[in-house]
Amino acid sequence: MSAAAEVVRRCRELAAISEEDGRLTRPFASAGMARANALVGGWMAQAGLDVRVDAAGNLVGRLAGSDASAGTLLLGSHLDSVRDAGAFDGPLGVLSALACVERLRAQGAALPFAIDVLGFSDEEGLRYGTAYLGSRALAGTFDPALLSLRDAEGVSLGDALRAFGDAPVASASRAGERLLGYCEVHIEQGPVLERRGLPVGVVSAIAGATRADVSFTGRAGHAGTVPMDARRDAACAAAEWVLAVEAAGRGEPGLVATVGVLEARPGAANVVPGGAVASLDVRHADDAVRGAAVAALRARAGAIGAAREVQVAWRTVHDEPAVALDPSLTGALGDAVAGRGLPVARLTSGAGHDAVALSALTATAMLFVRCAGGVSHHPDESVREDDVAVALDVLHAFVMGLAARD
Ligand code: GLV
Ligand code: MN
Ligand code: MN
Repeated sequence: MSAAAEVVRRCRELAAISEEDGRLTRPFASAGMARANALVGGWMAQAGLDVRVDAAGNLVGRLAGSDASAGTLLLGSHLDSVRDAGAFDGPLGVLSALACVERLRAQGAALPFAIDVLGFSDEEGLRYGTAYLGSRALAGTFDPALLSLRDAEGVSLGDALRAFGDAPVASASRAGERLLGYCEVHIEQGPVLERRGLPVGVVSAIAGATRADVSFTGRAGHAGTVPMDARRDAACAAAEWVLAVEAAGRGEPGLVATVGVLEARPGAANVVPGGAVASLDVRHADDAVRGAAVAALRARAGAIGAAREVQVAWRTVHDEPAVALDPSLTGALGDAVAGRGLPVARLTSGAGHDAVALSALTATAMLFVRCAGGVSHHPDESVREDDVAVALDVLHAFVMGLAARD
């Protein structure tokens, strides 16, 4: 089996490890994450890497270099998932990095620097709402106040991590080490490469993102007896606001605005909803545009609430500025693409990636791989084996190029 076919096969095998029957849902610090770490860690060990799980639940497989003072190159992506996910968002980057190291070892390539293959424990933020928990811990920017966050079952983040060991999260930090950079292979999750007929592209920047939890509190009552003009229906207030969110996204070029969670409470057909909760996710490549849109949506929620006598509470749970990737490392990745005889497409990512968090630690670069129809965060997510083969060649050339430069 070719290396690319093996990467795709491993992604599919990994996709069977889930917290939910019949669909892939693998949240941060769950039992499924531990099983995923064990499976991928086993493949890493077979490849001759030194394997460990750090205090933030990140999987780390290390290939030592010949010169201890030459530092470490970081390669990888994440092993957590969204709810009802596809097989490639995250794992493709981890398993491509592993395939690259397997090729280097098979060739007997002696690199001066070490390579760490990383499987981050949280990029999606599914369990605690805030993203990049694993990559922030490794970057040394994890805020310890987050340890008291609670998931939907009331389990604190600190307690969830205790299942992965007792070391303080700060011990996962790699700040202060000599690092050569971080390179992440990831499916594009959009249609640009497919439209241009290209297997891979180089990411130049990642859009900033804000996430908030917005709760609406009115008054519950009997659906058969409370007159329509006497209601304080929280779900209706939320519904009006959801449409305002959509209009905001449609009204500003490049802005995307989404309500992905929407719940009416107490949740019975014959009860006027006294409560409603909605999530908000807003993104734009320009932080000023994103900030203005979020402020306007917050004001709009307040105005809708005031008109309907519904209280509105707003909690920002994630706020990341746009990130420009490192020009030098990105240039080297572009050279590796060109070296394969391909045009170098440069893309801005609308999706968030661990590279955002890693940018606070070291130089970062990302290679996107075409995915059919741009479909992602969906079980139909797919990649072509021949595209993965190109990505593996590019990553290998990129690493060899760094070794030649070192
Ligand atoms: C992660 O996939 C995100 O962009 O939300
Ligand atoms: Mn994702
Ligand atoms: Mn991802």
